[in-house]
Order: sequence, then C-alpha cells, then structure tokens
Amino acid sequence: MRNPRATLLLFACVQALGSVEAVAEKAPFTPSPELRALFSARGDAGEALIDADAVEYFEGLPAQAKQFFNQAVEAELMSEPSHLQEILGLDLPVGKLELLMRDNCVVCHTDPATQDLETFFSSDPESAGSPPHLNLKEFASDVHFRRGLSCAGCHGGAPDDDMMADEIYERWPEAPARHEDRSWIAGFCARCHADPVFMRRFNPGLPTDQYAKYKESRHGLLLLGEGDSKAAQCVSCHGVHGIRGPRSPLSPVHPSAGPLHLWAVPRRRRLYARLPDSGW
Ligand code: HEC
Ligand code: HEC
Ligand code: HEC
Ligand code: HEC
Repeated sequence: MRNPRATLLLFACVQALGSVEAVAEKAPFTPSPELRALFSARGDAGEALIDADAVEYFEGLPAQAKQFFNQAVEAELMSEPSHLQEILGLDLPVGKLELLMRDNCVVCHTDPATQDLETFFSSDPESAGSPPHLNLKEFASDVHFRRGLSCAGCHGGAPDDDMMADEIYERWPEAPARHEDRSWIAGFCARCHADPVFMRRFNPGLPTDQYAKYKESRHGLLLLGEGDSKAAQCVSCHGVHGIRGPRSPLSPVHPSAGPLHLWAVPRRRRLYARLPDSGW
C-alpha cells in the first residue's frame, strides 16, 4: 500500500472495528424485571429457590447466552423459579446451553407450568413422576442434540415455533396405540438413517444400511412381518432422548454393557433379542 492516506484510513477503520468489537463484548446484560424476580424468589421457609451455584454459573455466562433467559421469560415459556434452577443446574458448557435455550421445543417441554407429566422433561424424571425417557440430562448428551438435530429433527416442527405444529402429531400414530404397536419406530428413525444424501452432510462415514439390515433381521421379520411388538426395534437397543454412538461406553449397545441380547431388552423380551447371523 503506497498511498499513506489510504494506509491511514485503513488503520482508522481497523481501530474503529476493534473498538466496536470491544464494545459488543463488554455490552452489559440487563435482566428484565421478570427474570430478576425469578432469581430473587423465595420458598415458604424464606429459602432462596435459585441456589448459589446456579447464580454463579449464570453470572459467568456471556451476555448473549444470558439474553436467551430474558427472551424465554418474555415469551412466557419460563415463569417458575424451579424451571430456571433446572436449566442452570445442568451446568452445561456455553455452546450446549445456547443450543438448548434457542430451542423453544426444549424450553417449553421443561416448563412445569405448562407441561403434564407425560410430556415433561427434567433431569430427574423419577422424582418428577414423569416417564424415565424424558430425561433432560441424558438428552443434553444425545448425538442428535449435539449436532443441532434436536426435538424438531425427529418429531417435526421447527425450533423457533412457539406452539405445537400439526406435523408433530402426524408423524407417528396416536397414543396409546403407538405404545402397543411398535412397528412405526424403525421407519421413524430411518427417515434420516436410510437417506444417504441427508446423512452425508453430517457424517459421511456412517453407514446408512441399518433399516435395510433391520428389515431382514429376525427382529424386523417378527415386528414388521408378523406384527409382534415384543421384537426389538431401534429404540429397544439404542434408547431414545440420550442416544450415543455404539463406541461410547455409555451406549447400551457398547460391548461393555454386556451381551446385547441379555442387556438391552427387558427380561420378557429376551427371546426376541438374539443377534441374528446377518449383523444384528
Ligand atoms: C409452548 C409450548 C410448547 C412448545 C413450544 C412445543 N411443545 Fe410439544 N407439547 C406441548 C404440550 C403442552 C404438549 C402436550 C399436549 C399436546 O399434545 O398438545 C406437547 C406434546 C408434544 C409431543 C407429544 C405429541 C403426541 O402426539 O402426543 C411431542 C412429541 C412434542 N410435544 C414435541 C415437540 C417439538 C418437537 C416441539 C418443537 C418443534 C415442541 N413440542 C414445541 C407444548 C409445547
Ligand atoms: C432421535 C430422535 C428423537 C429426538 C431427537 C427426540 N425424540 Fe422424542 N421421542 C422419540 C421417539 C422414538 C419416541 C418414542 C419412544 C417410545 O415410545 O419408546 C419419543 C417420545 C417422546 C415423547 C413421549 C410421547 C409418548 O407418548 O410416549 C415426548 C413428549 C417427546 N418424545 C418429546 C421430545 C422433545 C421435547 C424432544 C427434544 C427435547 C425430543 N422428543 C427429542 C424420538 C426423538
Ligand atoms: C433428523 C434425522 C435423524 C433422525 C430422525 C434420527 N437420526 Fe440418528 N443420527 C442422525 C445423524 C445426522 C447422526 C450423525 C451424528 C454425528 O455423527 O455426529 C445420527 C447418529 C445416530 C447414532 C450414532 C451413530 C454413531 O456411530 O455415532 C445412533 C445410534 C442413532 N443416530 C440412532 C437413531 C435412532 C435409534 C433414531 C430413532 C429413534 C434416530 N437415530 C433418528 C440423524 C437422525
Ligand atoms: C438388536 C439391537 C439393535 C437394533 C434393533 C438396532 N440396532 Fe443399531 N446397532 C446395534 C449395535 C450392537 C450396533 C453396533 C455394532 C454395529 O454397528 O453393528 C449398532 C449400530 C448402529 C449405528 C451406528 C453404525 C456405525 O457403523 O457406527 C446406527 C446409526 C444404528 N445402529 C441405528 C439403528 C437404527 C436406525 C435402527 C432401527 C432401524 C437400529 N439401529 C436397530 C444394535 C441394534
């Protein structure tokens, strides 16, 4: 750059940009009055409902992450101190917390003010009295969630919807029929797992033949051919809302979990869970 004035101008621009960035980084966060009220709420005995660890965790978050809490409160998706405590208590790394908080499906489904127990996600479903697979802690470790394929990826709708989309109900059979007849599950997972073009965008190394193999396996023949819902399907082996790759020691299909046919499937179903000769 020969022209000294141009150099100067460039220098000035860089300076200006630098200071804009610095301001953005230091932008103070102002909790809304409603969020402030959640933080200072007290129980019947005068005890703080948001514990000191949760407050410290929140204080340590960048302004952008804190802003999601203002938004959730403003959208009336978060109105109870226990909801705030629950999310902060997960102690998630910032990236995961942001993923979680920008997803209305998760925020609404963890809200005790609007959810019945059958659809309520929490980190301790047993004490909450909800089904064990609605475990928020497990969900935060799910491979799908990590890759941004959250609730909407499997169930339909979009993460910024503020109400339930019809598509969610249409994508699977109605309850209680879907709890009895399990033949829909393999197709539900195969929507992505048997679609090589879609799967390649995330993980080109991952085979997309599970559904094809499943249909030929003893399990698939029993379930899809003979309508026997005791036969194992994808969820009986891999779980749901906390799915990990088979190489994770925490996956129910990891060899350290014991022989699959003895472990993954409840006692009365063991007969059906023998590994067939062709893969599983
Ligand atoms: C504003 C709150 C709210 C939001 C946002 C929300 N849900 Fe729901 N959802 C509910 C409530 C309440 C129920 C239970 C009553 C019902 O089925 O309508 C429910 C039920 C469900 C069910 C069970 C449906 C069935 O067929 O029985 C699924 C699955 C579900 N939600 C997934 C999602 C997904 C995926 C998203 C985001 C795309 C989402 N929800 C967003 C409130 C919400
Ligand atoms: C990997 C796909 C997948 C993801 C991601 C996922 N779900 Fe599910 N969900 C399922 C499957 C499959 C079932 C049925 C499990 C069963 O019947 O054993 C289910 C069950 C449910 C149920 C219980 C309904 C019933 O009647 O049993 C609710 C509510 C629900 N999901 C909501 C959500 C929400 C909210 C999220 C995000 C926090 C989410 N799901 C993420 C696949 C998924
Ligand atoms: C929205 C599309 C989609 C749906 C529906 C879906 N998956 Fe996935 N799944 C993916 C993608 C993409 C990956 C790869 C993630 C990665 O490699 O980071 C993945 C990864 C996995 C893995 C880990 C594989 C590995 O080796 O790391 C398992 C196991 C799995 N899914 C099982 C299921 C089951 C069971 C269901 C049904 C309950 C299901 N998935 C539904 C898209 C989906
Ligand atoms: C009987 C238990 C069982 C059933 C049913 C089952 N899986 Fe698996 N799955 C396994 C085991 C064990 C592995 C690891 C060994 C392997 O890859 O063969 C695995 C591996 C996988 C992987 C990772 C493959 C890789 O190479 O990393 C995906 C993805 C997957 N399964 C999805 C599914 C889907 C989708 C279904 C339903 C169509 C399904 N599984 C049904 C037991 C099962």
